[in-house]
Formats: sequence, structure tokens, C-alpha cells
Amino acid sequence: MTVIQLNDNDLFKTQSYVAGQWLAGNATFEVNDPANGERIAEVSEVTSAQVATAIAAAVSAQKSWAKLTADQRARYLMTWYQLILQHQDDLAMLMTREQGKPLAEAKAEIQYGATFVQWFAEQAKRVYGETLPNPALDRRISVIKQPVGVVACITPWNFPSSMITRKAAPALAAGCAIIVKPASETPLSALVLAELADRAGIPKGVFNIVVGTDAKAIGEQLTTHPDIAKFSFTGSTHVGKQLLAQCASTVKRVSLELGGNAPFIVFDDADLEAAVDGAIASKFRNSGQTCVCANRFLVQQSILDEFVARLTTKVQSLTLGNGLDSASQLGPMINRKALDDVHQLVTNAQQAGAKVVCGGKKPESQSSNYYPATLVTHVSNTMSIAQEEIFGPVATVIPFKTEAEAIAMANDTRFGLAAYFYSRDIGRCFRVMEALEYGMVGINAGVISNPHAPFGGVKESGIGREGAAVGIDEYLEIKYACFGDI
Ligand code: SIN
Repeated sequence: MTVIQLNDNDLFKTQSYVAGQWLAGNATFEVNDPANGERIAEVSEVTSAQVATAIAAAVSAQKSWAKLTADQRARYLMTWYQLILQHQDDLAMLMTREQGKPLAEAKAEIQYGATFVQWFAEQAKRVYGETLPNPALDRRISVIKQPVGVVACITPWNFPSSMITRKAAPALAAGCAIIVKPASETPLSALVLAELADRAGIPKGVFNIVVGTDAKAIGEQLTTHPDIAKFSFTGSTHVGKQLLAQCASTVKRVSLELGGNAPFIVFDDADLEAAVDGAIASKFRNSGQTCVCANRFLVQQSILDEFVARLTTKVQSLTLGNGLDSASQLGPMINRKALDDVHQLVTNAQQAGAKVVCGGKKPESQSSNYYPATLVTHVSNTMSIAQEEIFGPVATVIPFKTEAEAIAMANDTRFGLAAYFYSRDIGRCFRVMEALEYGMVGINAGVISNPHAPFGGVKESGIGREGAAVGIDEYLEIKYACFGDI
């Protein structure tokens, strides 16, 4: 097993963190570096009894956590935030080793994730109620907001740190306790957050992490337990639907951030160079393993050749390599299955008449997870590569003639997470932005995520919003109080 060298080796944790304790299970699972297959950790499998302990601990801790003032909770969160930043190099190293993304990108994710903690530490103090006009002279109405209670969440491997803080920080700020089940591919990035929460003094049982490979069983336990009031998930639409159904049995509050199929429309009045830069940033972030990354480039016919030529040059210049190498702009895919799935979509598209302009080849070694940056043209919106979430470094180009045609194609999907378009025409910018059936729209911007903005989708891309002022509402109940006999 390869030892990961950190500045602070106590940040390397391999057991679930429950009620403020590190718990060994009965078995372990391996964590492997997707860059070279090296075993980098043996992590304890959480047992179902330990998950039950986490739930019970959260139930008990939540009561006193909710009784703290917002200021007190904010101070804990700010300490956690500062510790994350202080140790960002180590956190980024752990992430690159288990997830594969280039070190600079991993560091950017740690900072992005930390800003959710900072943002919600501030928002904790802005949970306001309301006094409403009275319906009768002897009545008064007030509305207060209270924490929902105990929260459980399941988080993905593609953003192993920030998807945890984007859920845990608002939950904790609101006065909830939380149990996090991270992806088994990336437990180290999750467990280090628990170690830092512990160092920040967050009381035992308020923040718990359970790690294991039996996602189905752990998911079932978390989604059906009556003491869990709220469930939040980031991952595929397919799994999200199953979890949503499971939550029905106890009528939990649910937030889902699911798959996307982002159109990226380039109109003929766009600043082409800016559009190409935005396209690269949007498509190839995290090697295309991002729910919001561009899935389909819809390009107006009159600028098609010029756009493809410029995009090809940039795609070909992207450096693929181990994320530890500072020259790498694209890391490996998370595992071989992910690579094979992406390649299958490219092959299907080719068989249906699409052309691979660059990339599109599997690595020679059967065990390699490196897929090259790929550009596919002559794609039609009905091909599987345009209808499914690619989740890999493959850009597809579909031509269109009119604004109406572009909007119709963009909306012709069950997904509705993010969409992007480039245009310099202010009227068109409003028309298209309003017509796109998506939760988020980037206008002359290829990367739009930040803690100030509400992140989330419509249609089968999800329920609820994360980040922004509304992000904390997902963890709050509204209580209406009617005072009579005044
Ligand atoms: C995701 O892909 O799930 C999240 C990406 C982001 O926050 O920008």
C-alpha cells in the first residue's frame, strides 16, 4: 500500500466518525488511486449497528445544538472553515490521490467547499421569522423557523469535499445534526472533514460520517429511519428516484441534486473566443465528470466551422496525466467502468454517423483510466450521446439554424440542471434565458457555481436548492403561531 505523505499525518482517517468517536468495523475496503491503481487506504466498513448509533447520537446531540444561539453555531462553523483552509494542501492531496483530479483543481474544490461553511456561518444569523397582519382585532400571527431535526445525506465521488460542506454547513447552521454517507471511492476527503470538525470543537454527535461500500443497505437505513427528518442526495437521477421513493415511507423532507444534460448554445453574434474558452472550462472541469458540465454544444450553422476549428485547437492542447503532475489539466476518470461507458457513447455516436475530430480512443492498457479529451461533430440531438449525461471529457457539436430551433433542442430532454449560451444581443439574452427550462443558466459564462447562488435543477434534475440565502431553508421548518384573545 502506498503511504500518502501529508504535512499533518493525523488527517489521514480510515474509520467512520460517529458520536465523536472513530469506529472500526468488521471488514475493510480498499481505496485506490485512479491514476495508477495503487492501493492508498484500507477503510473500515461501517456496520448497520454503527449507522444506528450515528442516528441515535445525532438525535440526542441535535437537541442541545439547536438550543445554542445562531452566533454560537456560527463560531463553530467559522473555526471549521479556518481549519479547512489551514490544511487545504493536505486536503487537496488526499482528494487528488483518491479522486484523480489535478492538484490545482482539487485545491480549488477545497476552497469552494470551505466557502459554503463560511457562507452558512454567516447565514445562521439571518434566519428571520415574520409578523403578519392580523386577520381579526383580537388575533396576532407570527411565523418562526426551526431546524428540521436530524439530517442524512449521501454525497458523490466527483466533488468529494464540497458536496459535503454544501449540505452539512447549512444543516449545522440551521441547528440540525447530520449523518453523511460519502461515496466509497472517496472516503478520505470526507473523513478529513470530520477530523477538522472534531478539532473545531463541534459537539459529539452533531456531525457524523459513515463510510462503507454497501450503499444500498446504508441508503435504505438512512432513508427509512423515522428519526431522520430530512434527506439530501447528490448523484444520478436513477439512484435519486429510488431514494426519493424510499423517503416516502416516513414522509421526509427531501433535496435532490441529480443528473444534467447541459446545452451550451453558441449564437452567431457571440464573442467566439470567449465562447471557446467558456466551452473548455465548462466541458473539461473534472474531466467532464460534473453534473453541470456542458453535454451538448449547439452551434449556429453560420459559425459552425470557425467554432469547431477553434475548439479543436484548444481540445487538442489539453494535457492528460496524473493529477500530481503540475502540467496535467485532465486527470484520469474515476474508474475503468466510467471510461468504458463514455467510450461506448462515442462508439454509438460514430455508428450513427457522428465524426470524431480528436481523441475518442481507449488507452492501450486495460487497467488505465485515462480517456483523452475528445471532440465529436455531426451529432444529432436524438443520439444517445446527446440525450444521456456523458460524464466524461467528450464534447459533442450539434448545428442549428434559428434561435427557436436551438431553444427547442436545448429543452428536449428530461434533465433541467444547467444550461449555457453565448450571445452579445441583449434582447436575445433575456429571451433565451427565460425560455430555457433549467434551474441555472450561464450567459456568456461557462462556470457558474458559487456559494452565493442557488444551485439546483428542475424536471428530473432535482428538488430544492443548495447555497445562497435559500440554501438554509432546506433545513428549516416553518411554524405559524396564532395568538388569540388579545
Ligand atoms: C456537481 O457536479 O455535482 C457539482 C458541481 C458544482 O458544484 O459546480
